[in-house]
Amino acid sequence: MRKPMIAGNWKLHKTRAEATALLAELKAALTGLASVEVVVAPPFTALAAAAEEISGSSLLLAAQNCYPASTGAFTGEVSPLLLKDIGCSYVIVGHSERRQLFGESDEFINEKVHALVETGLGVIFCIGETLEERESGQMYDVLRRQVRLGLKGLSAAAMAGVVVAYEPVWAIGTGKTASNEQAQEAHAFIRALLKEQFGQEIAISTRILYGGSVKPGNIDGLMAQADVDGALVGGASLKAEEFVRIARFNPA
Ligand code: PGA
Repeated sequence: MRKPMIAGNWKLHKTRAEATALLAELKAALTGLASVEVVVAPPFTALAAAAEEISGSSLLLAAQNCYPASTGAFTGEVSPLLLKDIGCSYVIVGHSERRQLFGESDEFINEKVHALVETGLGVIFCIGETLEERESGQMYDVLRRQVRLGLKGLSAAAMAGVVVAYEPVWAIGTGKTASNEQAQEAHAFIRALLKEQFGQEIAISTRILYGGSVKPGNIDGLMAQADVDGALVGGASLKAEEFVRIARFNPA
């Protein structure tokens, strides 16, 4: 009942021309793949060109960040309203790079989640522990705090628009993927947290993506885990061949 999602987080990569070229390849290779929701998240400056390139295809557009207000005196920021206007279906929030490099708190991330839900945009809500937190036995507490505070105040109906992405920080961009068992264990724990906070129905219907060095070589094993409903892919989403293979995963 949970439709798998494969989302590409392009981070700070790709000019408009490069984005258009990559999307043309993805479109050609992924047309007809109805069983998977495929999402791409180019940088803000390529969103308009990307929206045009993928129009009429099944690919969906995401932004990598937003500010939690619709309009106003917020120099340099981009709102959910403007992202919806440009053709985005989802926005990524709570990514560990934003938490670590830009000091985003659980409370600020929660404001973004609410702003997105109110605008009618889908949310890809990222959580995950650092290596230090995992090794010192704090992983469960960290995930619990991130889910409690990040999704605070949402109704069960609002949760229908939220996808959770579990991205252990130590696996992002490092080439170290969580093992299938580590991913499954964390995903099952997150699903239990969703049950505590929102009830059984939401826990069962919410998609939980895995992220952190997902590649063609490890996607099949990850997707074979009961609670892994897709992937948030960084580095490997920048190359058409790799991303297409990931989107066309084949759980063993
Ligand atoms: P990676 O990034 O696949 O390059 O590890 C994942 C992410 O940060 O979303």
